[in-house]
Amino acid sequence: MHRIIKEKLPRHIAVIMDGNGRWAKKNTLKRVLGHEKGADSVRTVVKTCRELGVQYLTLFAFSIENWQRPKSEIRALTLLLEKYLRTELQEMKDNGIRLITIGDSGRLPKTVRDALFRAIEETSENSGMILNLALSYGGRDEIVSAVKRVLKDSKSRDIDENTITKEFFSSYLYTANIPDPDLLIRTGEEHRLSNFLLWQLTYTELYFTDVLWPEFSRDDLIEAIMDYQRRERRFGLISDQLSKE
Ligand code: IPE
Ligand code: IPE
Ligand code: MG
Repeated sequence: MHRIIKEKLPRHIAVIMDGNGRWAKKNTLKRVLGHEKGADSVRTVVKTCRELGVQYLTLFAFSIENWQRPKSEIRALTLLLEKYLRTELQEMKDNGIRLITIGDSGRLPKTVRDALFRAIEETSENSGMILNLALSYGGRDEIVSAVKRVLKDSKSRDIDENTITKEFFSSYLYTANIPDPDLLIRTGEEHRLSNFLLWQLTYTELYFTDVLWPEFSRDDLIEAIMDYQRRERRFGLISDQLSKE
């Protein structure tokens, strides 16, 4: 059993799943085996979030910068992603999970895109939990592409400097309609954002753990959520101004 306070559950959890390569190295295995083991952690985290009632789970699976990795590793990662999408589709359907994606997914190989769009399509009516995969995603790239689209729209729509509010701009990001993450978890020892959700993490609670992603367990997730629940989110105010529950 866990001692998570249901009323204070983070509505949106985002995860930087890092440390697959180091886990493989530690166990004298090839990096790809680290990624394969990491896929098991994905299953565990998705299942646990669904059980707990988390509404949005965003997983950073592949960054724009990751395209610069060796070709063989990119190939292994994309194949693994395709396999994950095919094998987990039924599970997602059975559990009311809706799959969405953020990032430049057009850069993914066609077979992966096909599996991705099929899973998105076939789960589009589900409302239990949104599983958001960040694929070929970069935070700065997202902001630049939003600016470009605003500019493009301004040719056909009435957009001037007064139109540009934070809400308006947010609606041009990949995450339009998705609330900002309440909790960001980064596994694997590093304390950085690596170009993830730069706009959206403004007031997110950050949680860093040394646990390498392939070893990240249900208990580790619960620990992260409990840590989050002990924090006071002030959003720039002082403690006395916050409504007490
Ligand atoms: C995270 O693990 C998975 C991806 C970035 C795709 P890494 O592959 O970055 O593992 P480390 O950081 O080398 O240990
Ligand atoms: C961040 O991990 C990207 C993903 C988890 C997909 P990286 O391993 O790419 O980040 P850096 O290179 O350590 O910053
Ligand atoms: Mg890494």
